[in-house]
Amino acid sequence: METITLTMIKPDAVAAGNAGAILGKIAEAGFKIKALKMTQLTISDAQRFYEVHKGKPFYESLVEFMTSGPIVAAVLEKGNAVADFRTFIGATNPADAAEGTIRKLYATSVTQNAIHGSDSDENAQIEASFHFAQREMF
Ligand code: CMP
Repeated sequence: METITLTMIKPDAVAAGNAGAILGKIAEAGFKIKALKMTQLTISDAQRFYEVHKGKPFYESLVEFMTSGPIVAAVLEKGNAVADFRTFIGATNPADAAEGTIRKLYATSVTQNAIHGSDSDENAQIEASFHFAQREMF
């Protein structure tokens, strides 16, 4: 069954000029792009997106980082999209990321970790709606 996941190419990877290469690898890996945009989160956007992490020690620095520059947000479709995409991007901490994964290739720290992937089908729907209107998803 085809399912979706929501990704964000984070400010570190966009600023380093890696967004195009990462989108290419995403397509090569068999994820179909259903929606795509470059945007920059406001503080209140990032606080809302990461509300589940509110109160954690890294929350403030995460919000600061995610608002520090443009990101590329996309909705991706594939069978088993959420789990397959998380395998494809690698562990949250790039020090633990497997060879060949996006985070192994492009991330520099647990905060500046290049890319986001939804952690459940339910959150993928919520996160897709956060970034895209229905008419922007194809
Ligand atoms: P992501 O999974 O995209 O969304 C939550 C983010 O919080 C995660 O990426 C990391 O960038 C960040 N994060 C998670 N755990 C930690 C941590 N222990 N220290 C700093 N940042 C973290």
